Parts: sequence; C-alpha cells; structure tokens
Amino acid sequence: MAISRKVREQMKESSWIRRMFEAGIELREAHGAENVFDLSLGNPLLEPPAEFRAELARLAADKTPNTHRYMPNGGFPEVRASVAEALAEESGVPVTGAEILMTVGAAGAINTILRSILDEGDEVVLLAPYFGEYPFYIQHQTGVAKTAACDDNWLPDIASIESAIGPRTRALIINSPNNPTGVIYPEASIAAIGEALTRAEEKYGTEIYLISDEPYRKLIYSDQPYPFIFNHHPRSIVATSHSKDLGLAGERIGYLALNPADPGKTDLMDALTFSIRTLGFVNAPALMQRAVAGIQRATVDIAIYRDKRDLLYGTLIDIGYECVKPDGAFYVFPKSPIPDDTEFVRQLQKELVLVVPGIGFGTPGYFRASYCVDDWVIEGSIAGFRKVFEQANS
Ligand SMILES: Cc1ncc(COP(=O)(O)O)c(C=O)c1O
Repeated sequence: MAISRKVREQMKESSWIRRMFEAGIELREAHGAENVFDLSLGNPLLEPPAEFRAELARLAADKTPNTHRYMPNGGFPEVRASVAEALAEESGVPVTGAEILMTVGAAGAINTILRSILDEGDEVVLLAPYFGEYPFYIQHQTGVAKTAACDDNWLPDIASIESAIGPRTRALIINSPNNPTGVIYPEASIAAIGEALTRAEEKYGTEIYLISDEPYRKLIYSDQPYPFIFNHHPRSIVATSHSKDLGLAGERIGYLALNPADPGKTDLMDALTFSIRTLGFVNAPALMQRAVAGIQRATVDIAIYRDKRDLLYGTLIDIGYECVKPDGAFYVFPKSPIPDDTEFVRQLQKELVLVVPGIGFGTPGYFRASYCVDDWVIEGSIAGFRKVFEQANS
C-alpha cells in the first residue's frame, strides 16, 4: 500500500475513533437515529450569534476591491489589530496586531507553532488527559510527545511536569478549559508552570515555550477569572479559535497571539508567517477573518451549555459516577465504573449510548461524554448510564 508507515501507524493508533464512528452508524441504522444517544463528539451545537449573520450580510454586500485575494500571510492588518484590541481588553496585557497571526482554527495555530519551533526529535510535553490529536500534530512536525500527569482534580502536577522536561524540551502545551475534563487551571497552577519552565530553562540553558490552547476560553460556567499565561512566562503563545465560542468550527477561523514581553517575538512571528504559508494553509480564510474581526466580544449563548452541564453532570453524580465537576468547555470526564474503559464503552453501546474511552486522551480508566447535544440525547442516555453502572457494582 502506498501509504507511509508513519501515517499507517497513526491511523492504527486512532482507529478507535473510526470504530466508534462506525458503531454509531450501525446503531442508528439498526435502531433509528432517535434511539441512539451519541455523546461522543465535540461538535459545537449552538448556532453562531446574530452578530455573525449581520456581519456576513454586510460583507456580502461590500464590493470593496481586493478583499478576496491573498493578503499578508499573517492576516489582514486591520483584522489583527481588532483581535489584539479585544484580547488586550480581556487579558489586561497590551497585545498589538503585530503579535497576532490569524490561523485556520486552533488546530492550524498549533501546527504552525510546532512547525516553527521544533527540530527533528525535539520534545513537547503534554498533560494527560490531553486532546487526542496533539501527539499526531507533534509527530507531523517532527517532534516527540512526552507526557506529564495531572493530580486527582485534573490540575497540573508540577513535579511530574519537571520530570517530563529534559534538554530537548521545546514546549509544553496546556489546554484550559480542558478537553476532556472541563477543568479550568487556576492562576496558581499557571504561575507554578511558568516557574517550573524558567527553572528548566536555567538548568538546561534552553528556551521552552508555554503554548496555551484556549478554544474553550469563553465557555466558562463559574465566576472564576480566566488566568492568562502572558503574566507567567515570557515565551508564551496563545492558540485559539472561534470554533466553539462563535459556533464556527466548520469555518476554520482562529488566531495565535505572542507574548508582547517575549524578547524573541519578532523572529518567532517571522517563522510563524513562513510556516503558515509553507504548511499549505497560506492564510486564514479571508471572509471569515473579516467576519469575526468586529464581533470579538460576542459569543454563543453560554447559559445553554451551562444548563446541559448541570443536567449531565448532575445525573451522573446521582447515579454514583465519580467525576470532577467541569467548569468550562462541554465535556465531563468521569471514572469508568470498571477498570477497562474500552469494555465499559462497549457495554454502554449495547444500551445505545456512545461515549469516548479515556485511552483516547492518554488516560485509561475514564471516559468522556460531551454535552454539546440536544437535551433529549442527554435525557435518553440516563437509563443506559444507570444500567451499566449497576451491572458494574452488582
Ligand atoms: C482542546 C482542543 N484543541 C484544539 C481543537 C481544534 O479546534 P479548531 O476547530 O479550532 O481547530 C479542539 C477541537 O475540538 C480541541 O478540543
């Protein structure tokens, strides 16, 4: 077969995704879509806000020339300036357009960053549980993933991070609010990570980037302030998108932001601009850049996701599942009532409930259920969750 060994290997590693997808199709065909309760996907449910449609209508009528051609690879300067202004307001850090690069979603941002900073064999530390695509992004960009652990509350374990860092470490990726746990890292955790990175940089005489993947930054259901990384490590980069906060996952629009205090930011921006071009993205979609520029302060109706969180989390806790309460994103990550999470997922499938095994996030023994679904899907899943839990505990 004319497929690379590397990709064949990666496809095998992620084959559980295809199996889940196929199981979903089979179950829907056999039992009818209305009888299958699919909590396996993180596809944002809520429609984009009215402000987005108004912007699209305005842009459709706008005949200003040169708006659909190539622009500088980092994005339209006026879009970068608008994004910077909103981020500066939100974070209290004086970000300018020169530190913003418009990207093809958060996934595009992370690949562009890794492409720019990794030499072959360089290492990137991940915190388990992590978004299951990260190891593939790192491998694609010739790096090696190393894993550090979280504590029982799914907060970063600093000692574990320190032992995962070595002389070849070039970056640590954090993700808060987290997929799959929904946990938000408090300021103290971010500060401790920054200190650990600085200590490691001194120890090894290297520079280590803190990359914060934040596509769920505006999907927060508690009053706690969101701690930005820029105050805690000079070499830090935000990667984010409007896939979730504006419900635009299919439109592939996001951005990355460099720390204004990073002494190497000009060289880094040059490298990122080169990488977004030569990775083949060329630039973020022009129409979407202009559509999101003026609606940076708008979001989907977060209260709807919060109510769904309360419904699913409350139900699972009532049944007896152990789960850290998620304060953001749209996932819960409970403990599997039997040690083998893939077997648990199979048992749930028999009850027509679909969730993802923890192994897909580098953390076996748990499972992820998404609540970015209609309420009837959550309500319909309850009987299955109860039955499999009772079987496990009988
Ligand atoms: C943690 C995390 N990072 C990145 C992405 C990719 O998002 P985007 O659609 O912005 O590329 C996702 C998508 O689900 C995610 O959950």
